[in-house]
Amino acid sequence: MITRKHPQENSLFEYLWRSVVFAAVMASVCCAQSLRQEAEHDGVLIGTAVRPSQLSETAYSSTLAREFSMVEAEDAMKWWVLRPDPATYDFRQGDEVVRFAQAHQMKIRGHCLVWGRYNPDWLTQGHYTTRHLSRLLHEHFNRVMKHYAGQVFAWDVVNEALDENGEVRDSLWYNQPGIGWSGKGTAYIEQVFRWAHKADPQALLFYNEAEGEGLNRKSDAVYAMVKDFKRRGVPIHGVGLQMHIPTLDVDIPAITASVFANIARLTALGLQVHITELDVSLPVDSRGTPRPDDLTRQADVYRGIVRACLKSPGCTAIQTWGFTDKYSWIGSHSHGTRGQALPFDRGYQPKSAYRAVWEELSAGRPAAH
Ligand code: G3I
Repeated sequence: MITRKHPQENSLFEYLWRSVVFAAVMASVCCAQSLRQEAEHDGVLIGTAVRPSQLSETAYSSTLAREFSMVEAEDAMKWWVLRPDPATYDFRQGDEVVRFAQAHQMKIRGHCLVWGRYNPDWLTQGHYTTRHLSRLLHEHFNRVMKHYAGQVFAWDVVNEALDENGEVRDSLWYNQPGIGWSGKGTAYIEQVFRWAHKADPQALLFYNEAEGEGLNRKSDAVYAMVKDFKRRGVPIHGVGLQMHIPTLDVDIPAITASVFANIARLTALGLQVHITELDVSLPVDSRGTPRPDDLTRQADVYRGIVRACLKSPGCTAIQTWGFTDKYSWIGSHSHGTRGQALPFDRGYQPKSAYRAVWEELSAGRPAAH
């Protein structure tokens, strides 16, 4: 005898069955296409920082070429690599990155022409006068940008020049001894952006900053600086938001909303925004293993950041700072207490974070409201 189930009971069973089917379909459909293919549909570049020394590793280079449409040398285009001594420009490592990118039709970001940290000893201990240092830096811009002209489409011209209060940091380039604009705030930053534009008029010029991704005093100062630059015709095209997320102890909806608001105000100036160094570090045990719940929460953070970018048409690139946990700055930086910050694990297997990024890219940019 067929007993009619209570309509309510039918619908509950139906709902559960449909959910199981949907999940199975998603499991089979998810990630059929790569991040690169999904991002292309959204008109956003998906990039990652790379180490030329790893390009010969098959799993590294094949994952990189399949999943990403943009690369940036993690260190190979920095002063301490390019300039081993005052008379030498060593482009070999940077050129390896360029060759790989060109072979795989990838865009190339340049990083970074001016940073107050990690400069070679001959420079920081050279006791140069401001005039000599200004000539040195100007020559660096001309030699490096002309070498990579037509290859690097966007440069982090200046990196991390402001402190947590939004003040211009003391640095070799600002006032120790600086290049002639000591005590004049962002004037030296303006000067180097003008040098950059003359050296390579085709390159997009970015100011790149850490810990100023959401709305805070530092991001307010970045906003004020680039708004002033735009108003006065200083050649600048975008702001890089590094997005190193050092802890899971964040209010994900709040951080997502704050990042979106910051992106929206920057793009309203007519600037592009690139997420430039995204990683979400986790506490790990002595074997380097994170807690499973942390991996899930990490995915939610990645999801929120990607969503915040895709909501703004002016956010045109999302870049992680490395892509496999096998090679990340965080392990050594945290003396082994933190890591597992990236979308692929040490064996190049996609993590929940990868799936979250894929799902957001696959869902596409929300309709303009
Ligand atoms: O390759 C040498 C090795 O031969 C030597 O034995 C070893 C000991 O000192 O140093 C190795 O070089 C290190 C290099 O990373 C490669 O691992 C440098 O000391 C070390 O300073 C360098 O750190 C880099 C750091 O920037 C400073 O340049 C990290 O890889 C890189 O991930 C990090 O990236 C920065 C961004 O440029 C700006 N935003 C913050 C981000 C994280 O700090």
